[in-house]
Amino acid sequence: MSRISYVNGKYLHHNDAKIHIEDRGNQFADAIYEVVAIEGKMLIDFELHIERLFRNLNELEIDLSLSKKVIFFISNEVINRSRVDRGILYIQISRGRATRNHSFPKNNPPSIIISSRATKFPEYALKGIKVKLMDDLRWKRCDIKSVSLLPNVLAKEQAIRAGAYEAWLVDSDGYITEGSSSNAWILNEKNILKTTPLSNKILGGITRKVLKEISLFNDIEVQDRAFSIVEAKKSKEAFITSTSNFILPVTYIDDEPIGTGESGPLFKRLYNLFHTHLSIQRKNNNIF
Ligand code: PDD
Repeated sequence: MSRISYVNGKYLHHNDAKIHIEDRGNQFADAIYEVVAIEGKMLIDFELHIERLFRNLNELEIDLSLSKKVIFFISNEVINRSRVDRGILYIQISRGRATRNHSFPKNNPPSIIISSRATKFPEYALKGIKVKLMDDLRWKRCDIKSVSLLPNVLAKEQAIRAGAYEAWLVDSDGYITEGSSSNAWILNEKNILKTTPLSNKILGGITRKVLKEISLFNDIEVQDRAFSIVEAKKSKEAFITSTSNFILPVTYIDDEPIGTGESGPLFKRLYNLFHTHLSIQRKNNNIF
C-alpha cells in the first residue's frame, strides 16, 4: 500500500513528496517538528502535540496560516490515505523557501510537511534497555523541538555502536539532562521518583507530561528534580519516555546494572497505567 504524504497543500505519493533545495529547513535547520503516535488509526494526545508545535512556531516567529483544526484534519487524511493503523505521524514546519540569507525573509510562506508510517512497538525492549552516558553537546534552547538534531544523531549512533539502546546526556555539572530522543526518569535509593525538571536544557516531552499526570492521579508522587550520574547509578529503577517508545525500563547504565538488572515493579505499574491511557485515547479522538 503506497504512502501518501502532504507537502504545502498537496497530497502526494511518498516518493514524489519533495521540498525545494532552498528550503530554510534544509539549509539552516530553520524548522520545527512534531512526532505523534498513531494507535488504532487514532492520533494519541494530539492536542498536547499541536499545542507544543504552536509554542515552538511562536518561539521561532514563524507565522503559520493553518489552524490547529486544519492540521488535525490533514493529519487524519494522511493517516487514512496511507492506511496506517499503528505507527507515527511526522509534522515539520520550516520558515519556507527563500534565497539563502541568514536573516529572516520577509512575507515568506512557511513550508509544511506531514507524513505517516507504520512502526512496530519495540517489544524486546520491555525487558530492559541499556543507556550510554555521554556529554551533552547541544545548544542552550533544547526546549525548542527544532530539526537541528545533529548532536542527538551522533549521540544515538555512538550509543548503538556501544550496544546501548539510548544515550543519556550529561551536563557540565554531572547531571543527566535527557536521552538523545527521550526523557529520563529514576526511582532513587530513597524511593523518590524523579524526572529532570523542565528548562531550556531538555525538551518538555508529551509522554513525560502525560505519565506525570497519570502517576499523580494514581497517588504515585513524581518530583521534577535533577539527578546526577552517581544518583542514577545507585537508583532502584530507571526509565525513558518518548512518543515512539512510550515508557521503557533502563536496566543498565553503561555496564552497571540498575537494581536487579531487570525491569522493576514500578515500571510494570507505570506501563499498565500508560496503556490504559492509550486505550482511552483510542476511543476518544474527536478533539475539535
Ligand atoms: N523524541 N527529548 C528529546 C530530545 C526528544 O527528541 C524527544 C522525542 C523526547 C520525548 O518527547 P515526547 O514524549 O514528546 O516524544 C525528549 C522523538 C519524537 C521520539 O523518539 O518519539
